Amino acid sequence: MAASVLEQGEDAFRKLFRFYKRRNPPPDFSNVLDFSKPETHFGKVFTTDLSTSAVSDNAAHKCGLHPVRKWKAFSLDGYPGFIFITNPFLPGTQRYWVKQCLKTYTQKPNICNLDMHMSQIETENLWEKSLPGMRLKDSVKRAPKTLLEKLRWVTLGYHYNWDTKTYSADRYTPFPNDLHALSEKVAAICGFQNFSAEAGILNYYHFDSSLGIHVDESELDHSQPLLSFSFGHSAIFLLGGLSREDPVTPMFMHSGDIIIMSGLSRLVYHAVPRIVICTNSHPVPQSLTEEFRNENPEDSIVQTVSKEDWEICEEYMQTSRINMTVRQVLKIGAVFPSEASNKRTVKGQSDAYYDNHEENGTSEIKRKKDV
Ligand code: OGA
Ligand code: MN
Repeated sequence: MAASVLEQGEDAFRKLFRFYKRRNPPPDFSNVLDFSKPETHFGKVFTTDLSTSAVSDNAAHKCGLHPVRKWKAFSLDGYPGFIFITNPFLPGTQRYWVKQCLKTYTQKPNICNLDMHMSQIETENLWEKSLPGMRLKDSVKRAPKTLLEKLRWVTLGYHYNWDTKTYSADRYTPFPNDLHALSEKVAAICGFQNFSAEAGILNYYHFDSSLGIHVDESELDHSQPLLSFSFGHSAIFLLGGLSREDPVTPMFMHSGDIIIMSGLSRLVYHAVPRIVICTNSHPVPQSLTEEFRNENPEDSIVQTVSKEDWEICEEYMQTSRINMTVRQVLKIGAVFPSEASNKRTVKGQSDAYYDNHEENGTSEIKRKKDV
């Protein structure tokens, strides 16, 4: 056991993970792909066609998305099934998803990391409970952390069981309609007409957070893609192969960018070793400074965020990144295998694996197959 941990600790992926996570001296980012400058990656990055007729301009607009013909999507040499879409969100609409992640999706019955240690009464309405502290933040930076700032993950739909590494019928609450609609559109545009969002994992990162090396294999239908939406400060995303010795490609994920992992790239190793806080003129990324002018609110899924709510979100986003991953768990019309096979609980491991914990003074969210 110890030997295998050591061996894994030295694999190629782990080395690169440590390289990009390093604080002192900070790493050289010159090998990190930037899809917002695809011309600088000649021979590696290719534009890819999308199903422009899968979603009408009107349907895209309701979800806060540009018409599909304006989207920029890329594939990557050596990673069939991997698609990178650079921010397709209409100006100001990313704010809506940020607000949903902080104010709406944190509400019960959704489950979050704080529920692992605290009672339901303590964790309910965590947005409201955090307001006084968040409002103080502007003037008193050293105020104690609010619940919102202690948030690391939220699960939606089929709530992922971090101990058994399974989803099950008895841990289900309705998946949010708005995120279901967004996911359905994005999947259809990428050629997956039957995708149904059934489970979501939202990750909340701060400037010193990372997400350990892992494969998302617990879903029962791997023919469906995994969608990943990124908001706030940029991240370095590492994309590997089926083995941890395979080459690893580092890339930036900026606010609004979407990654689709499907086909031969559905089950590859990946990780987020670092959040990159850019210190130019805006305290939050440029695309979050835009306001959304919703001309037809009755007909729209995405709504304008009130000034009051955005003030809190903006304070939070100055040092944060939020990632929403959306998964289909079951094959269409299928049911879960018998409950018996879902009872492999390893007691007491959830904290060690999945809570942010301190490692060399920085926090890392660990996942299955992490080291
Ligand atoms: C995940 C994941 C990546 C990210 O939640 O499974 O890989 O960019 N997230 O946060
Ligand atoms: Mn993942």
